[in-house]
Amino acid sequence: MTKKWILIAVIAALFGGVAYTSSEDCASWLTGTTDEKLDTLACIQPGLGTVMIEYSNRMGNMYYAAQAGNWGMAAYQLKEAVEIQEVGETTRPSKAPLLINFEETSLKPLAQSIVDQDWDSFQMHFNIMVNACNACHVATGHRYIVYQLPDQPLVPAKLDTGQTFTREELEQILSDLLE
Ligand code: HEC
Repeated sequence: MTKKWILIAVIAALFGGVAYTSSEDCASWLTGTTDEKLDTLACIQPGLGTVMIEYSNRMGNMYYAAQAGNWGMAAYQLKEAVEIQEVGETTRPSKAPLLINFEETSLKPLAQSIVDQDWDSFQMHFNIMVNACNACHVATGHRYIVYQLPDQPLVPAKLDTGQTFTREELEQILSDLLE
């Protein structure tokens, strides 16, 4: 092929590609009756495995934020963890009672330690929580999943910001959990 033909071939491929993607409806994979489409959508919602990855990342972030004295960030991470847990309660209703119980017995005391900005109490309740996480893995037939605090937080944010927080501010962030 000459250079001219190679160029024409490349242009044709590029435009062909553009034409292909622009004519493809982004939901073209969603077929069948409305009920079938809803079933397809329901089946691709995140289950507990996906939820748990975010859940555990947030727990590590919360720990290191609290250690750095960034109680606002610790409160935020816990609030977000509860939100993703609620996704799990919805998509895996058989696990909802265990998750709600875990929230009551393990997460509420942690929320209280955060509002009190009490590092000793936080550490104690964090350890109790980790045992409860792993007890639930055993109870649900996943004894090989043993959570442990990572060496570093995953969040790409500065944690030792030197900021101070009022009790009201922290209560506000954690209001759903504390109510
Ligand atoms: C309702 C009981 C329950 C509680 C409470 C619970 N987990 Fe899980 N966790 C599960 C189940 C069930 C799975 C397996 C999910 C699946 O099979 O889809 C899992 C999976 C995991 C995984 C593996 C995720 C993956 O696929 O890579 C991690 C990590 C994890 N949990 C961490 C935690 C942490 C951290 C806590 C506490 C903060 C916690 N879990 C609390 C039930 C629980």
